[in-house]
Amino acid sequence: MTDTVERPHVEPAADPALNIRELREAALQQLRAGAFGQPMWDYLEGGSGDERSLRWNEEAWGEIRLSPHCLVGVEDIDTSTTLFGSRLASPIGLSPAASHKIWHPDGELGVTAAAGEAGMVYCQSTLGTTSMEDVAAAATSPLWFQLYVRRDRDLTASLAQRAAAAGYQALVVTVDTPVLGARDTDRRRSVRLPSGMAFANLPALTARVEDDLPAHRRVYVERLDPTLRWKDITWLAELTDLPVVVKGVLRADDAARALDHGAAGVWVSNHGARNLDTVVPTAQALPAVAAEVAGRAPVIVDSGVRRGTDVLKALCLGADAVFVGRPYLYGLAAAGREGALMALHMLDTELRMAMGLCGAPDLASLTPDLLWH
Ligand code: FNR
Ligand code: LAC
Repeated sequence: MTDTVERPHVEPAADPALNIRELREAALQQLRAGAFGQPMWDYLEGGSGDERSLRWNEEAWGEIRLSPHCLVGVEDIDTSTTLFGSRLASPIGLSPAASHKIWHPDGELGVTAAAGEAGMVYCQSTLGTTSMEDVAAAATSPLWFQLYVRRDRDLTASLAQRAAAAGYQALVVTVDTPVLGARDTDRRRSVRLPSGMAFANLPALTARVEDDLPAHRRVYVERLDPTLRWKDITWLAELTDLPVVVKGVLRADDAARALDHGAAGVWVSNHGARNLDTVVPTAQALPAVAAEVAGRAPVIVDSGVRRGTDVLKALCLGADAVFVGRPYLYGLAAAGREGALMALHMLDTELRMAMGLCGAPDLASLTPDLLWH
């Protein structure tokens, strides 16, 4: 018997990647083939310890189940929002990440351009490989500056003042990293910036504290300040006119303390599970923080967000904005500025699909009502 059924003709996919998981694959291929190889992939991707929280971060978003409305009329989906006085096309933002030029020569300027095109906030890291002034000069969407408080408080103050002068709209203070975490692959290899790249916002970092100790004995490092306390948040809030956001809050009582000490925003993050392993995933920490803050200040969340449905769930759980780290870095590593933009467009498109399919055409309709209990 001969087969007379005509086989449908299938065109090869036009896009190299359709979702963040596929973009991650593209980044992996690209980095493995590139000059810096496997160690830089491990630095990008790795978590601490046994990487339990790294897995939990993604799983916890995935495990929340949706309970959509039907027949609402979703022909006009509106993702726009306002944060710290700026109108934004999207509640999705770009988390701060060190040293973009490691991943692609487009570096921070490529990411700034991608964020501008997508209408999203980009939070630049203290540890950028492009100066905050150069990023600000190129930006077409709002910028926030992420501050690692330095032991040298004069240098810290000057970073905050430079950010305000350059037009950044918020100061994000990262508080979840007072000491090193057990990021074993990085500890083994002692990852450093490739030659020709520098931390453009900082005078040269001096030798690491405890550099004379073997890796399995090191806790402190020069770029991190283990003396950081709540009073330092008050000091910063009084020092700058910018709204101060505390990044790395995982508990309701700490969220309350942040506001009591002058913070204008609370960022629920476990640093992409890069510091403390077995720490709670942010999907589980967010509801109590959002309930405590109760609309008094914006609540931001990141860690493990990979799908538009993850973004939607975070907004339903009380976040005002949802940020991503690795997703746009995968894009940057895979294809520079265009790859970073592709990542942002993937998340934006999936969010719009999820809103339409949940019968929730604007952000105000994203409430816990849409989550299955
Ligand atoms: C980071 N993150 C980070 N955070 C910060 O406050 N300052 C920084 O310089 C960096 N650097 C950095 C480098 C790299 C390679 C990664 C992957 C992450 C943490 C980042 O802001 C964010 O909290 C997490 O990336 C969020 O988790 P996902 O989206 O990567 O799962
Ligand atoms: C990291 C530091 C730079 O997560 O925050 O790699």
